[in-house]
Amino acid sequence: MSEAMIPLSVPEMRGNELTYLRECIETNWVSYVGPFVTRFEDQMAKYVGARHAVATNSGTAALHIALLVAGVEPDDEVLVPDLTFIAPVNAIRYAGAWPVFMDATPDYWQMDALKVVEFLEKECRIDGGRVRNRKTGRAITAILPVHILGHPVDMKPIVEVARRYDLRVIEDATETLGGKYSGTMVGVLADIACFSFNGNKIITTGGGGMLVTDNKSWADRARYLTTQAKDDPIEYVHHEVGYNYRLTNIQAAVGVAQMEVLDEYVRVKRGIAERYAKGLADVPGLTLPAEAPWAFSTFWLYTVLVDEARYGVDSRALQRALAERNIQTRPLWAPIHAQRPYRDCQTYRIEVTERLYRDALSLPCSVGLSQADQQRVIDALREIAHSKS
Ligand SMILES: Cc1ncc(COP(=O)(O)O)c(C=O)c1O
Repeated sequence: MSEAMIPLSVPEMRGNELTYLRECIETNWVSYVGPFVTRFEDQMAKYVGARHAVATNSGTAALHIALLVAGVEPDDEVLVPDLTFIAPVNAIRYAGAWPVFMDATPDYWQMDALKVVEFLEKECRIDGGRVRNRKTGRAITAILPVHILGHPVDMKPIVEVARRYDLRVIEDATETLGGKYSGTMVGVLADIACFSFNGNKIITTGGGGMLVTDNKSWADRARYLTTQAKDDPIEYVHHEVGYNYRLTNIQAAVGVAQMEVLDEYVRVKRGIAERYAKGLADVPGLTLPAEAPWAFSTFWLYTVLVDEARYGVDSRALQRALAERNIQTRPLWAPIHAQRPYRDCQTYRIEVTERLYRDALSLPCSVGLSQADQQRVIDALREIAHSKS
């Protein structure tokens, strides 16, 4: 009989979720707005240290609205990493703007801040007070760093260059809730930040998102745009095109319960990372995720790089061998610049992203992963390496 399936990353609901859901149903507060939406927003604002939080029905919706309130306009350009889940890039297109793809760093696999600075300094010019891309002639209005896999981007150079060129910085913090950069929470490192609570995130509402900012007029506008831009809610007067992007009270009820255990989940994720680090440190050909000196990583999705020459098989063959042992893993995202809708968009010195994509494999790391199951994964990784060498 085959052993039980070890999933990559599944939700963990073991707090007050059911109690709060029952409260929604018993009070009939089940839809958009409601006491749990406000509570969830307040909890998130307090947790990251932002003045305002606006709940949305997905992280992608939060990103779309963040771009709009930050002033990104059609035909502008936004600098974004090539190695990311596609949502932030799609959000740029929803706003009518264009992505310019930036490389990742070889050490922490995050958007390369120094190449961002270099691109702005070497490939752009100032024209009428705006930064313009020399090649396309378009105005660059924002930088959208994505903190991938639980680890922050090196934000200081990005924030500094943005101040210098009067650009907005929107953090895609969807994968890194609970992470810190030089002691400051991810989410308050720039002008506005977005989170996601879909099913594979460190905490989940089933589906949902949040944007956080210190800028009150942006937060007010985000609330307005996410609720169909109602200028007179009694007479249904609308002066702008709005969106139906709000979170329901039912989803927020789950979010409030999940927020209560977030710090514990971060501890658990870091514990999982430590056990993998101990169990795999001496396996030749596996590069384990590193934490920068300025970073506090949540290790949200524990990912390794597989060097075929030294490990014996490549990342995809390893994925298949683990699947045969009922262990679920997943590669990182194919570089966005090669995806059909984005093939004609500009890239800047992409030298690392493709190798990371080729070699990366994310390992099981659910909050509920038992030590015995984790040992099964570690043993399998050791056996597969040895069997082929
Ligand atoms: C980096 C990144 N950005 C944005 C999103 C979008 O979040 P959602 O699925 O809530 O729309 C996700 C996750 O799905 C993500 O990983």
